[in-house]
Amino acid sequence: MNALLFLGLGLLASLRATTSLQPQIPSVASFTGSNVPGFLLSTSTQIIVDSDFQDSGSPSLITYAQTFRSDLLFLAGLASIPEVRIGSLEDSDASSIIFLTLGATNHTYFSGVATEEGYDFVINSRSYIIKGSGAIGVWWGTRTLLQQLALSPTSDGTIAAGSGSDTPGWEVRGFMLDAARHWFEPSFLADLCIYASFFKLQTFHIHASDNIWDQNFISGPDWRKLYSAFRFQPAAGSPIAGLIQLRNETWSKDDFTALQTTCSHHGVTIVPEVDTPGHSLAISKWKPELAIPNAPDNLNLSHPDTIPTIKAIWDEILPWFTSAEVSIGADEYDPSLANDYISFVNEMSEYISQRGKSIRIWGTNEPSTTASINTSVTVQHWDFPGDSIPVQLMNRGYRVINSEQQFLYLDGKTSDEGQFPLELVQSLMWSGAPGGGGWAPNIFSPDDSSNNTSPDNPLLRGSIMALWNDWGNNATTPLEIYYQLSRSLAVFAEKVWAGSGVRDTALSQEQFNSIYPTLNVAAPGQNLNRAVPSQPNNIIFQYPTVSEPRISAFDSVGPPYTLTFTIKPSNVTEINVPLSDGTSILVPHDGGVIFAGNDSKLHVQSLSFEDPTTQIRYPLSYTLPTDTFTTVEMHATRTYTYAVIEGSVYWWMTDLDIWGEYMKPANMSFAAPSHFIRGDDFFGELHNVSLVLGS
Ligand SMILES: *[C@@H]1O[C@H](CO)[C@@H](O)[C@H](O)[C@H]1NC(C)=O
Ligand SMILES: *[C@@H]1O[C@H](CO)[C@@H](O)[C@H](O)[C@H]1NC(C)=O
Ligand SMILES: *[C@@H]1O[C@H](CO)[C@@H](O)[C@H](O)[C@H]1NC(C)=O
Ligand SMILES: *[C@@H]1O[C@H](CO)[C@@H](O)[C@H](O)[C@H]1NC(C)=O
Ligand SMILES: *[C@@H]1O[C@H](CO)[C@@H](O)[C@H](O)[C@H]1NC(C)=O
Ligand SMILES: *[C@@H]1O[C@H](CO)[C@@H](O)[C@H](O)[C@H]1NC(C)=O
Ligand SMILES: *[C@@H]1O[C@H](CO)[C@@H](O)[C@H](O)[C@H]1NC(C)=O
Ligand SMILES: *[C@@H]1O[C@H](CO)[C@@H](O)[C@H](O)[C@H]1NC(C)=O
Ligand SMILES: *[C@@H]1O[C@H](CO)[C@@H](O)[C@H](O)[C@H]1NC(C)=O
Ligand SMILES: *[C@@H]1O[C@H](CO)[C@@H](O)[C@H](O)[C@H]1NC(C)=O
Repeated sequence: MNALLFLGLGLLASLRATTSLQPQIPSVASFTGSNVPGFLLSTSTQIIVDSDFQDSGSPSLITYAQTFRSDLLFLAGLASIPEVRIGSLEDSDASSIIFLTLGATNHTYFSGVATEEGYDFVINSRSYIIKGSGAIGVWWGTRTLLQQLALSPTSDGTIAAGSGSDTPGWEVRGFMLDAARHWFEPSFLADLCIYASFFKLQTFHIHASDNIWDQNFISGPDWRKLYSAFRFQPAAGSPIAGLIQLRNETWSKDDFTALQTTCSHHGVTIVPEVDTPGHSLAISKWKPELAIPNAPDNLNLSHPDTIPTIKAIWDEILPWFTSAEVSIGADEYDPSLANDYISFVNEMSEYISQRGKSIRIWGTNEPSTTASINTSVTVQHWDFPGDSIPVQLMNRGYRVINSEQQFLYLDGKTSDEGQFPLELVQSLMWSGAPGGGGWAPNIFSPDDSSNNTSPDNPLLRGSIMALWNDWGNNATTPLEIYYQLSRSLAVFAEKVWAGSGVRDTALSQEQFNSIYPTLNVAAPGQNLNRAVPSQPNNIIFQYPTVSEPRISAFDSVGPPYTLTFTIKPSNVTEINVPLSDGTSILVPHDGGVIFAGNDSKLHVQSLSFEDPTTQIRYPLSYTLPTDTFTTVEMHATRTYTYAVIEGSVYWWMTDLDIWGEYMKPANMSFAAPSHFIRGDDFFGELHNVSLVLGS
């Protein structure tokens, strides 16, 4: 091919590429390209918020605009852009403008109900105008702009000219995290909100009280030893203070408020869940008299103090929440107590509605012939045949959220007999509906279409996927939870925004696969990948000898990586610790820390990895000799970490305690402990240290 023809074809390709929007996640409902030059972001691009609407919405348009500006800087890698201005398009003389305004009409969910989440947009070479049906619609419109920038086929990042319109199909689009059976820092939860928001998910359901389920403990004398938690830290002197067993594993009101604010500034609402009257071991440990004997995870609703106790819990924490709805859990209770259960749910519904909020419950099937749950309660379906049938619930007037486990459940790492996979199964999401169509919130059953409904059913509110932590704190690190969620949230986001078979602009699986990796890397506002700027030869650091503690520029480096070092720990087993009175005492010394970072520490003792969030250590079945040098070569990916030592391979593992029935070994993935090299408490020699990207 001659050079001129090649150039000509290249030009054609780039013209074609910039007259249509790039496929993105979730797909945009409609766009008409125009054959004129597109929009090019530059350091002089001016974000203008329409002065008629700056305070509209909660958060307001101006608040969203500020978050958008920092995302734009992060994603585009620009050194700076002008501060957000308030004004009008007409009065600006800027040559490049992103204009944020309101006034889009006719945006409805598939049900036909009007929504503020829609937006229209018009792109030309001078301006990119986003007009929302509400401030939240503008916010989603800014996610579209950012994704187009990340996916632009031209090297300068041009976005195609034209005009479009976009609206989500459903009102509830979210994910649930079991933050009760696993402890998470608020900063990690905030990062998850920010990540999910890039894909236009807007509900973060936080399951905040529960216990590990293990029949041997539950029905035996040792039930108090089973891990349980209630995560909201009551104020000092609160009547519910006794509910807290591990104060170090609770969120203070300030922490939680800051988390809610970060999430809401990204368009995400936190829906908190306190699960009663089942899953209530944290309450039974505090007030054993409320527990049902031999089933202390269930509360006795007939005990005169049970419902007042549950109300006292909500009294304490309801004022924390900005969400209009909370979940009272209410799953897996004793069916022989159906009437007690139903009257409890109705009483709580009434109680919380008097305090300005409404409630959701998990789907159950309470076989009562005399009572029924008030239809103002939203039911989150998750289980066949344990739950009432969702289409029947809708026929009876209940509003339903689809969390059907066959499609939408993950469990920290994997689970029982592979019941729950590491990630949402792509084949189910793209072709798991009866007849081979893709999953969508209206699909509850993969094989029985009588259990599914139409996308426009007004009682179908949407969908929430779930990640449980049945195997507790030591099954996963927080980053491993992110690895399970990262792609899962993206595919889910497409389906819950666009549905399956509703819009002809919806993504194909091939399109999703080709763009997801770019968008995952581009997602602004967080660095859950623990990505680092590119380094020559992928070498993060390399030190021939480390005789003093040192600090690198890298807090933590995500897998895949290879960390190599040659070490001879000292044989010191006790050290002298000076006391303030001038004397000193001998304390045992375990060898100290070799490397530490934000997400992991590596100890000399058993070459244990420690997760700093939970402070759990994962030992290797290996002990470093103290009388000779040993070279350790560590390899990590998102699904495992192993070391090669003297030609042998050692895996960092955990044991998943599956329902207390059997132990299942599982690999652990750790980010590289890259910040502190050679802890203050390490005595010995450390040489030939290198951290290189790639395993
Ligand atoms: C809104 O939709 C209605 C009904 O489809 C249509 O008559 C009207 O022109 C639309 N308005 C706008 C501003 O698009
Ligand atoms: C529940 O509490 C009531 C009232 O204290 C009591 O009569 C009843 O036996 C308890 N039920 C169970 C199963 O312990
Ligand atoms: C159902 O709940 C609503 C909202 O709390 C309340 O107004 C209504 O009275 C309840 N209905 C019954 C039958 O209790
Ligand atoms: C579907 O619905 C029928 C009743 O309508 C029920 O018997 C069946 O168990 C349901 N199950 C699934 C998986 O769809
Ligand atoms: C530790 O090593 C030193 C020499 O390096 C040796 O003299 C001493 O006996 C060793 N102590 C123990 C407890 O092995
Ligand atoms: C690492 O931890 C420090 C201190 O807690 C914090 O400032 C920093 O943002 C963290 N870095 C990452 C990548 O989380
Ligand atoms: C909280 O304290 C308990 C008891 O001291 C300890 O076992 C646990 O590891 C601590 N949790 C965290 C997250 O530090
Ligand atoms: C994880 O916890 C289980 C009990 O739940 C325990 O049997 C197992 O040894 C623990 N594994 C590690 C690596 O701490
Ligand atoms: C750990 O990962 C390796 C490599 O993928 C795999 O061969 C091994 O089976 C895994 N171990 C467990 C217990 O799953
Ligand atoms: C470090 O590597 C160099 C070069 O390969 C080698 O000569 C030296 O012996 C190594 N140091 C140790 C302590 O093994």
